[in-house]
This record gives sequence, structure tokens and C-alpha cells, in this order.
Amino acid sequence: MEFEIQLKAYAAQVDSRLAELLPDSSLPPAELHEAMRYSCLAPGKRLRPAFCLACCIAAGGAIEDAFDAACAVEMVHCFSLIHDDLPAIDNDDLRRGMPTCHIKFGEAVAILAGDALFALAFDTLSRVKADPARVVAAIGVLTAASGSSGLVGGETIDILAEGKPITADLLEAIHAKKTGALIAASCEIGAIFGGGDQKAIAAMREFGQRIGLAFQIADDVLNEVGSAHLLGKAVGSDRERQKATFPALYGIEASRERARRETELALGALNLTRGSGFLADLSSFSVDRLS
Ligand code: IPE
Ligand code: IPE
Ligand code: MG
Ligand code: MG
Repeated sequence: MEFEIQLKAYAAQVDSRLAELLPDSSLPPAELHEAMRYSCLAPGKRLRPAFCLACCIAAGGAIEDAFDAACAVEMVHCFSLIHDDLPAIDNDDLRRGMPTCHIKFGEAVAILAGDALFALAFDTLSRVKADPARVVAAIGVLTAASGSSGLVGGETIDILAEGKPITADLLEAIHAKKTGALIAASCEIGAIFGGGDQKAIAAMREFGQRIGLAFQIADDVLNEVGSAHLLGKAVGSDRERQKATFPALYGIEASRERARRETELALGALNLTRGSGFLADLSSFSVDRLS
């Protein structure tokens, strides 16, 4: 199947499963559930679920094996977006082409909707019907990727680095943690549920780390040169807030070049035939995107 059609098909399946897994907005506390659904079902690209499903297939599984795990990863991502947009963090008004969660529901409900999505992710993962050893391994991977040595740690360093001189090492650490960790976890969890051996799982983790870094470099570049209309979120904001970004340290062209090189290294980490065409296309799409 053509790449973009396949990606849309994965996204549509993930969207309908997410709609089932998220609490109904008529259930109390209705405002909390409405906020969770609003942010999580908003039109995102669903790239992390796609990486998870594609790595599951590449490791020898079927998409059903990683389907709920892919939804769990998207829930963690949506939690991170809600909190990232809060006034205390990036203070953004627009996300996925819509008002951010705190603009729509107020700060208190937005914070709590993020918290509840984070909990729902682990609830969802713990219920995956698979070999319990795989479930426990996947929970460990998602926990490590989310916490203080992963996404939350990266968000902290990102905020603390605003307006300060930055070293190359610290910039890489921010990107690897705030974005790379969850993308690497999406790939690794896919490989675990696909039944990959330790070597395949490690290869997919390395692939995800490199793509995750390239993806965040592309996001930095788009914040400089992209269109708010296409991106569905603000542009120029990193410069305004004096964020630690690749374009700020190296310029646009060198940043693009680094993202391309990292993508090549990512693909080099994989030694696959099954599903490798889709993973290669997904990698290029993630890094060369306009939105
Ligand atoms: C945005 O991620 C946050 C970053 C890590 C750069 P995406 O670009 O995947 O956002 P959605 O899910 O498509 O909205
Ligand atoms: C991306 O943060 C990482 C997380 C959301 C955890 P950014 O602040 O760089 O991403 P955007 O540009 O708001 O999507
Ligand atoms: Mg941020
Ligand atoms: Mg942000």
C-alpha cells in the first residue's frame, strides 16, 4: 500500500480505538473527561503509534499485537502536549489547529486532564492481552521514557535553559529526553509486542532515539521557517522565548543537515526486510515534513 494511505489507515484505526479507551464525556467528572477527549482526539499526526505499529510488524508481529500499546504511547504524548502548552511552560494558545486545553477548559482542568491521560496510558498498557513478561517490559520502557530521565526531565532542562547560553551536549540532552525518549519507547514497545529478540529490540530502540532527535530538530526548524496554518501551532515562539534549539546554535541549514544525517544513521541501525519500506518512509516523512 502506498505510504500515505497506510499512515492514514493506521491513524484512523488508532483514533477509533482511542475514542473507545478514553472515558465517555458524559461520565463524571464530565469536564475532565471532555478535556481528555478534546486534546487526545484532536487531529494529531499519530506518528508515535505508527512507529510502534510498524516496529511491531518489523519484529514479526501483527498490528493487533501492539494496537493498545500504540494508543498508550499516544496518551502519554497528549499529556505532554497539554502540559507543555501551559502558561508555566511554553504558554501556547494553539495546538493541532485548535485552542490549547487550558485556553478551552482553564488551567486547573488542563493540568488534571494531562495527569489523567498519563494514568490512563499505564492502565491501558497494563491491560494488554499478551505474555505478561512483555507487558511488564513495555511498562518499564514507557515509565523510563516518561519520567525524570526521559520526557519530564527533558521538559525541565528545556525550561531551565531558556534565555541562557547553551552547550551542544546540553542541547542534545534536551532533545533526546523531551522528544527522543518517547519515540524510542514507541519503537521499542512495538518490537517487544511483535516478539522481537533482544537484538531486534535494541536496534529499534536505537532507531527510535535517532529518529526522535531528528524529529525534534525538524520541529525546531519548522518553528523558525514553518507556517502556523500548516503546523496548527505557533511559529517564531522558540526565538521569542530564547529556547535552546538547533537553529539557534547551528543555523537552519546545518540543523537540516544534522536531521538528515541522524535519519540515515537511524535507518542504518535497522537491518530489516519486513516492513522496512514503511519505516523508511515514515522516518523521511517525520523529518522532512511541513507540518
Ligand atoms: C509535537 O509532536 C511535539 C514534539 C515532540 C515536537 P507532533 O508533531 O508529533 O505533534 P502531533 O501529535 O502531530 O500534534
Ligand atoms: C516538545 O516540546 C516535547 C514535548 C511536548 C514533551 P516543544 O515545546 O519543543 O514542542 P512544540 O513545538 O510545543 O510542539
Ligand atoms: Mg516545550
Ligand atoms: Mg511547546
